[in-house]
Amino acid sequence: MLKSDYFTTHPISGALGAEISGLDLSMPLNAAVFEQLHQALIEYKVLFFRDQDLTPEQHIAFGRMFGEPMEDEFVKEMDAHPELIELLQEADDSGYNFGGTWHSDSTYREQPPMGVALYARELPPFGGDTTWTNMELVYSSLSKGMQTLLDPLKAEHVAQGYREKMSIIKGDYTKSFNKEDIVVRNVSHPVVRKHPVSGNKSLYINEAYALRFSGMTEDESKPLIDYLCRFAIQPHFTCRFRWLPGSLALWDNRNTMHFAIGDYFGHRRLMHRYTIQGDTPVGLVEVANNG
Ligand code: OGA
Ligand code: MN
Repeated sequence: MLKSDYFTTHPISGALGAEISGLDLSMPLNAAVFEQLHQALIEYKVLFFRDQDLTPEQHIAFGRMFGEPMEDEFVKEMDAHPELIELLQEADDSGYNFGGTWHSDSTYREQPPMGVALYARELPPFGGDTTWTNMELVYSSLSKGMQTLLDPLKAEHVAQGYREKMSIIKGDYTKSFNKEDIVVRNVSHPVVRKHPVSGNKSLYINEAYALRFSGMTEDESKPLIDYLCRFAIQPHFTCRFRWLPGSLALWDNRNTMHFAIGDYFGHRRLMHRYTIQGDTPVGLVEVANNG
């Protein structure tokens, strides 16, 4: 377990996630503190901070220590703070719950976010928890046979909005789907991702965006993708966080998935999100070739 001279680390489950106490994130962190906090993020994958009183500028400054802000393709940035987006569920909103599927953020992009710093401004009196799952633990819990099968594979990732249209196309949709006004992505990522800092392997697939294995049809891919996504969310791979106003969660988006629980109908919830720019996911094969 990580020992720090500057803060205390309290794991919240056996799988991942730790609360950090003793830090005031409204102040700039010096290099030594940042270094230990970064190590804690690598080790625990999600860090939680309580009772933080942050202006948007202080939230942005904290996020920036981990990387440049990344624009979201679907959610408009805040007018006054383009580095942030607002996730707002009004009391009378019905229907769409942002983040209400098991996913890793924006894996339909060539360079998905490295992480997110999500800050709670207004919360319902109950509910609205978020859960995460540790995709390194998931990978290492698969059988050797399954790991060997998955190691060389890639998967195509597609944003939800494009999926319906993709599903009607057989075979190579980039050939058939050539209307100019529709953005068609053909992003593929390794199914087993090597973490750029720790070198650990994680399963890198999610039910929200992984459409099919590269070189296979959706029908062929679906049973295994479904199995892996179900396997990945067993409770002993997860942690669950109860937000309070002033809570901040910082997650590593490279080796985790998360799910926002939409169980607070009739209540308002407002979060501010700083998304940290990420790099191109690297699989095992590239690593072997380059090394
Ligand atoms: C996100 C997300 C979860 C939540 O910001 O990417 O999924 O609990 N949010 O709001
Ligand atoms: Mn998300």
